[in-house]
Amino acid sequence: MHILRFSDLVAAGQVAGKRVFIRADLNVPQDDAGRITEDTRIRASVPCVRMALEAGAAVMVTSHLGRPTEGAFKPEDTLAPVAQRLGELLGREVPLKSGWVDGVDVAPGQVVMLENCRLNKGEKKNDEALARKLAALCDIFVHDAFGTAHRAEASTHGIAQHAPVACAGPLLAAEIDAITKALAAPKRPLVAIVAGSKVSTKLTILQSLAAKVDGLVVGGGIANTFMLAAGLKIGKSLAEPDLVDEARAVMAAMAARGAEVPIPVDVVCAKAFAADAPATVKAANEVADDDLILDIGPKTAQLLADKLRAAGTIVWNGPVGVFEFDAFAHGTETLARAIAASPAFSIAGGGDTLAAIAKYGIERDIGYISTGGGAFLEVLEGKTLPAFEVLQRRAQG
Ligand code: 3PG
Repeated sequence: MHILRFSDLVAAGQVAGKRVFIRADLNVPQDDAGRITEDTRIRASVPCVRMALEAGAAVMVTSHLGRPTEGAFKPEDTLAPVAQRLGELLGREVPLKSGWVDGVDVAPGQVVMLENCRLNKGEKKNDEALARKLAALCDIFVHDAFGTAHRAEASTHGIAQHAPVACAGPLLAAEIDAITKALAAPKRPLVAIVAGSKVSTKLTILQSLAAKVDGLVVGGGIANTFMLAAGLKIGKSLAEPDLVDEARAVMAAMAARGAEVPIPVDVVCAKAFAADAPATVKAANEVADDDLILDIGPKTAQLLADKLRAAGTIVWNGPVGVFEFDAFAHGTETLARAIAASPAFSIAGGGDTLAAIAKYGIERDIGYISTGGGAFLEVLEGKTLPAFEVLQRRAQG
């Protein structure tokens, strides 16, 4: 993917004294008192801000926070806690500016945060007049918000069209590089793990990956629907029987390419969905009518772990069992450790997946951990994200 990179502009000495507008994704979770409960996205945005400051730019950074009503500020919409956290990470104060659309006072070597960009009227609809105003604030627009790369809004897409220069920040560039390595030019075999409660929410991902991957590992409620499609009984387990035909079509598409969707040979069952429910390992063809499948069994986990160890590339989205309950976490832990031990390049994304990675402490052993939620899923669906489209267009001049 040919895009202009902010790091190239810095290396070429084209940033000193320039007004740089960074669109980051600082949409972090907060508790009821507004305290940040998880700051990965803020930490991931620091390198871009530092890069701009060290290059001598006048730096503006903004983000959305939540989904506020445009033009109707409420205290919970403020980026104030985010500005403070960014300031702590940078070791300098980051003043917060409100009402900034018509002009921002910032000098070279300074950084300011522009209040929640989704409060601006026209942001969501990518209003051209707003986008032009945002573009007029800067010499260089830097898109560094991978988590928002699937949205075409005024501060992500419109501004990129109209700014004098539009480029990708280091976080967005790293995500693009990892995605390209995993999906556009993967070292084979390429194995994807797509797990979660419902086939319906990930059907387009399954269909898109079925045309690309060598192995498609399904887990959770999705695996239960595939077990039904393979003629197995699943008792009371979560599944979508009306999507069995779609599951069969995915299996057929894979088989036609000489690829496979491995169906569990054993599972871990319980009679109730509870952390303390007794767990029983059963062969996949021995599930009783009152059983709930809550994890893959140890034989299945081992078979899948072997495939992951032999893979060239691994794409991971979703835990294969109810890993929050220790009795049903073995499958997810086995696969997580196999991915960590595999020489394959691995990319992981999605909230539950990141929680599993954190639980097993394997962050350093994953090739790339995406900061995108919905954006990562849209990449897996095979969609071209608006951020990639507009930056590629601008790079063509
Ligand atoms: C996210 O949290 O996934 C991103 O920040 C995008 O947020 P949105 O779904 O409100 O656009």
